[in-house]
Amino acid sequence: MSWPEPVVCVQSLAESGIKTIPVRYVKPPCQRPGGAAMESVEVQRNIPMVDMAKLESAAAVRDMAEACQEWGFFHVINHGISGELMECVKESWKQFFDQPLDLKKQYANSPMTYEGYGSRLGIEKGAILDWSDYFFLNYMPTSLRNPAMWPAFPPSSKKLIEEYGSEVVKLCGKLMKRLSVGLGLKEEYLLNAFGGEEGIGACMRANMYPKCPQPDLTLGLSPHSDPGGMTILLPDHNVPGLQVRKGDNWITIDPIPNALIVNIGDQIQVLSNAIYKSVKHRVIVNSNKDRVSLAFFYNPKSDLIIEPAKELVTEERPALFPRMTFDEYRLHIRKRGICGTSQHEQSLKST
Ligand code: OGA
Ligand code: NI
Repeated sequence: MSWPEPVVCVQSLAESGIKTIPVRYVKPPCQRPGGAAMESVEVQRNIPMVDMAKLESAAAVRDMAEACQEWGFFHVINHGISGELMECVKESWKQFFDQPLDLKKQYANSPMTYEGYGSRLGIEKGAILDWSDYFFLNYMPTSLRNPAMWPAFPPSSKKLIEEYGSEVVKLCGKLMKRLSVGLGLKEEYLLNAFGGEEGIGACMRANMYPKCPQPDLTLGLSPHSDPGGMTILLPDHNVPGLQVRKGDNWITIDPIPNALIVNIGDQIQVLSNAIYKSVKHRVIVNSNKDRVSLAFFYNPKSDLIIEPAKELVTEERPALFPRMTFDEYRLHIRKRGICGTSQHEQSLKST
């Protein structure tokens, strides 16, 4: 399996000073940022906020559960990860992306594993591409970790990735307990379903969205739901870009200083029998500023069967998803690329 066409680095394109973008990046009118009919009907709202320091209270857990039902997304504050560490990690990724192309190409990825530096998802020849580059790496299980593939520049980056990852895993462990309670399940339920602390998988994707001369014609990242368990996004706190689907609208998330953004992925949607929603999101670009974000994907052990919790399956609400391992699900996604309607959504629709 290899890329169907030579891979073009979007950052280099952007820096070449072009005034119009190549047709490969031009989306059909209905998929462009201003393309959805009802865009401005609803007053813009930001996603809910969850304060980790308050999550011992039943009311706060209820609010978080409601955010997962209504939005599938929330900001999290008092998450225990230092602002300094977050800034350092982001800065180190910025420095990596600002390296000459030759150097970055040493990490060029393939669609076999996606590990490394890349500029596209999916292998469909002639596909319309997104306006972004990224670096993808495996973090857990440690047997899949491959620090030889992690950026060697800036020199501190490997250590920062490791340290940031371990902090995010701790945060995810806490969130998993509260998310379980929010479903009326035992606090260990979700983590156990993921294979426990020893079993979980995790990977990271640093996203680079270069400034774009025609931001109205393209997207930084096409609409998708995250296939894994849950995602912790370290956004660019200076440049908005992430949009979340809410009814017929795309809501632009306003980043909050020091906050992280949490979203429910397809696997927790399955385990919760769709009480928690894995919601579509996308990224828009702009003509003034590059944007860098770091997505941390927290996933179930890849060969465990994921299915709706028995406690959440009733006669009125039967199981809405087929039993499937995360490996099986991911294989399906990778063949098809990031776009399109997820299989889970289709099975939801057919019920
Ligand atoms: C992702 C994602 C959003 C962003 O990497 O899956 O949705 O703001 N990223 O970069
Ligand atoms: Ni995503």
